[in-house]
Amino acid sequence: KQYKVAVVGATGAVGEAMLAVLAERKFPVGELVALASERSAGDYVQFGNDEVMVRDLATFDPAGVDIALFSAGGSISKQYAPKFAAAGAVVIDNSSTFRYDDDVPLVVSEVNPQEARNRPRGIIANPNCSTMQLMVALKPIHDAAGIERINIATYQSVSGTGRKALEELGKQTAALLNFHAAEPEVYPVQIAFNVIPHGGDFNDNGYTSEEMKLVWETKKILGDDAIRVNATVVRVPVFYGHSEAVNIETRDKLDARAARALLEKAPGVEVVDEHAPGGYPTPVTHASGTDPVYVGRIRDDLSHPRALNLWVVSDNIRKGAALNAVQIAELVAAERA
Ligand code: A2P
Repeated sequence: KQYKVAVVGATGAVGEAMLAVLAERKFPVGELVALASERSAGDYVQFGNDEVMVRDLATFDPAGVDIALFSAGGSISKQYAPKFAAAGAVVIDNSSTFRYDDDVPLVVSEVNPQEARNRPRGIIANPNCSTMQLMVALKPIHDAAGIERINIATYQSVSGTGRKALEELGKQTAALLNFHAAEPEVYPVQIAFNVIPHGGDFNDNGYTSEEMKLVWETKKILGDDAIRVNATVVRVPVFYGHSEAVNIETRDKLDARAARALLEKAPGVEVVDEHAPGGYPTPVTHASGTDPVYVGRIRDDLSHPRALNLWVVSDNIRKGAALNAVQIAELVAAERA
């Protein structure tokens, strides 16, 4: 079967990658519909060797769409995803709008693929980028030794914020190197040559929304409400690829050597862990533009008998968003095969 696939937010940073990944993985697309706001209607986006004209979401009739990949922000998902689902499409939504609803599965393709089938509302949620790579790395360890607590600090790239943030990092860097002032627009303070301990919005409890996503989504994806998560999210002046310094406490003792052996066999994971300069993954040397979740710096925690340290790096736009969304689409397509 060939599918009529709609990409909502096709002109955005994630939408562009969705189109690229669909083409690269040869998803059976019969017809591709690129949707965005009326601002970009009439523009063209690249899909494989084709140029596809962007259409205005507001006036598009979803009848006949088989699969819709949404990445145009939460308010657009809230308004339009139910309409696409009602018209018969399976919606794969990259926003946080439906992630915590009990009747919407939250799926990482290597971790809980079976849950994609159970979608009473016709909507499957794609997890947050930081949670995504963390789950791919931690699932084999959780299965083997039972993770009780996760302590994480992230080093998140600007692409997670969208196209305007990519431009802001470029512009500020160029301005500062030319002795001009950096003007913050997307971020509250200068991002070039800086780090910002803030992702998303502030909650009443003092944590940011990006931090609480790690707490809530981890429990839902691993199906374990008992896992405790302590998170600090930091935005860094990197274009593509999120990094995470992760400390985990396990129920059963699992040493670094055993964890490494598990990770070397884990789907979607690539271990890069030589104890030498450069023998670890970074966004620029490994993750940017690639598919795997890279894990390095695997160490026993010297301060705790059942804890480990890991360094986890992945392209937040690929596995963290577009790639996983397309992998979910592949799961949906496989149901009919
Ligand atoms: P547009 O280019 O027309 O504004 P990013 O996260 O990189 O900023 O991308 C956001 C995506 O969401 C873009 O494709 C953007 O399209 C799309 N988008 C934003 N607002 C709307 C809207 N009101 N209707 C449809 N698409 C929207």
